[in-house]
Amino acid sequence: MKAYKDEDNNAFLFRPDQNIKRFNRSCERLAIPTVDESQFLEALNHLIALEKNWIPEDEGSSLYVRPFVFATEPAIKANPSLEYRFCIICAPVASYFSDAIAVKIEEQFSRAAPGGFGYAKAAGNYGGQFYPTELAKAEGYQQLIWTDALTHKYIEEAGTMNIFVRFEDTLVTSPVSDTILDGITRKSMIQLCHDLNIHIEERPIAVQELLDGFENGKLLELFGAGTAAVVSEIKSFGYRGVNYELDAVENAYGARLKKALTDIQRNRAEDIHQWRYQINADV
Ligand SMILES: Cc1ncc(COP(=O)(O)O)c(C=O)c1O
Repeated sequence: MKAYKDEDNNAFLFRPDQNIKRFNRSCERLAIPTVDESQFLEALNHLIALEKNWIPEDEGSSLYVRPFVFATEPAIKANPSLEYRFCIICAPVASYFSDAIAVKIEEQFSRAAPGGFGYAKAAGNYGGQFYPTELAKAEGYQQLIWTDALTHKYIEEAGTMNIFVRFEDTLVTSPVSDTILDGITRKSMIQLCHDLNIHIEERPIAVQELLDGFENGKLLELFGAGTAAVVSEIKSFGYRGVNYELDAVENAYGARLKKALTDIQRNRAEDIHQWRYQINADV
């Protein structure tokens, strides 16, 4: 998750409760003990209060906060460990991707399978992505769009982001499942769509629908959503060796949602859903 500072030097985390719950859901799936939620939040508060001066102030930058847990039992065995270490580290970061990106729709490799642990924030899910992503990079793309492992007919996620597609005046995002990470940016953007009167649907998105939308002009926007970049505009997608370039649109939904979200994160807009968590600096 990320910590932000407002103009008055107050520090905030964005939806730490949701991050903590997802961390624990991931632990459960990997047979790792969960962390007490209130202790977790207290630890976050302490750390950010201590490191507050490292939160960058410029737009797009923030303090990246990374809780993690790993097995520490000195043993060689394919069993859950008897000991674990829970840590939280942080570092100032700029936005991940600033320019619109080119993505490749992946059909050969899979990120996650039904019944697996694709929904967990687990290192192995990322390790398995590097090789296919490197292959796509060699072809000139920055990221992959993962398709479902069984049929490769439906798009699931964009690299380390959830995917949003705009067909005419409707925004669509793939439903979360056991193969898709339940992104906090994604769920916040769905709520913001309701707030901003943007029609939003959560339903499977077929690759064919993208191709048809491209041909008939209904496909207007494609973007990824995640903590790292908030919204990452996708300017083109590659599928079976063909590159599909999207034209820029005015008043893009992606840009509107990004602004609405970052204004809340940085305490420039009213926080009607209580998403901001203010760090208590007197600890
Ligand atoms: C695989 C994957 N999907 C989606 C996301 C977006 O999730 P969030 O919005 O909670 O950052 C991330 C990033 O954290 C991710 O790694």
